[in-house]
Amino acid sequence: MKVISVQNSKGGVGKTTLAINIAKSLSMGCSENKVILYDADPQRTAYDWGCIKEDKSFKVVPIDNPKLLETLVEKGDYDYVVIDNPPAMSQFFITSIKLANYLVIPVASSAFDIWGLSSLIDTINMISKDFSIIFIHNKIIRNAAIGSEIKEALLKIEINKKNSIFDVLFRQSYPKSSLLGETVFDTDDSHAKAEIEFIVNEIINN
Ligand SMILES: Nc1ncnc2c1ncn2[C@@H]1O[C@H](COP(=O)(O)OP(=O)(O)O)[C@@H](O)[C@H]1O
Ligand SMILES: [Mg+2]
Repeated sequence: MKVISVQNSKGGVGKTTLAINIAKSLSMGCSENKVILYDADPQRTAYDWGCIKEDKSFKVVPIDNPKLLETLVEKGDYDYVVIDNPPAMSQFFITSIKLANYLVIPVASSAFDIWGLSSLIDTINMISKDFSIIFIHNKIIRNAAIGSEIKEALLKIEINKKNSIFDVLFRQSYPKSSLLGETVFDTDDSHAKAEIEFIVNEIINN
């Protein structure tokens, strides 16, 4: 079992969007992996998304306490567990990091998003457990100068865990598919599908 925790104390960076698309991608294909998505955000965005359309290849389960999350993750027999975290240094913050094999940290294209990362990085550096970090530079607007500055800032982060950076562009297919209770895999946006699969391959193959 691999646990993928999507977290960043900042809101609006794409945690839920990436969590649902990564969960969908993990559940697809010939291996038919057993996948579950735990929604730890009291706003229940992922859960509400899951209720729009019932025929999902994975369940979305709302969770309101970290102890229960820990028990369910440890007792469950899933191939992949995805956790969508609240936009806060909440009670789930440390629990999710401790459960994670992969910490997916979306960062949107704004200087504020980089500044907001320092407490998360400090916390990660204090945890001795081994896990990998996947930074996702999200909502990239092609040819915008800020993009390369954000990338440079991400490369400079000093972190004592294996880490990688992936790019996800700003694409209408993300909000459009979410609105319908779907993912980019239900659209014909092959670029969006490819960028999510690229991230998921890192998770599957390592
Ligand atoms: N790559 C993207 N391209 C376009 N819009 C995006 C992208 N990623 C996220 N969004 C949009 O940004 C908004 C915030 O995303 P969301 O996943 O809810 O963030 P969070 O869970 O971190 O608060 C949503 O409207 C979502 O559709
Ligand atoms: Mg969210």
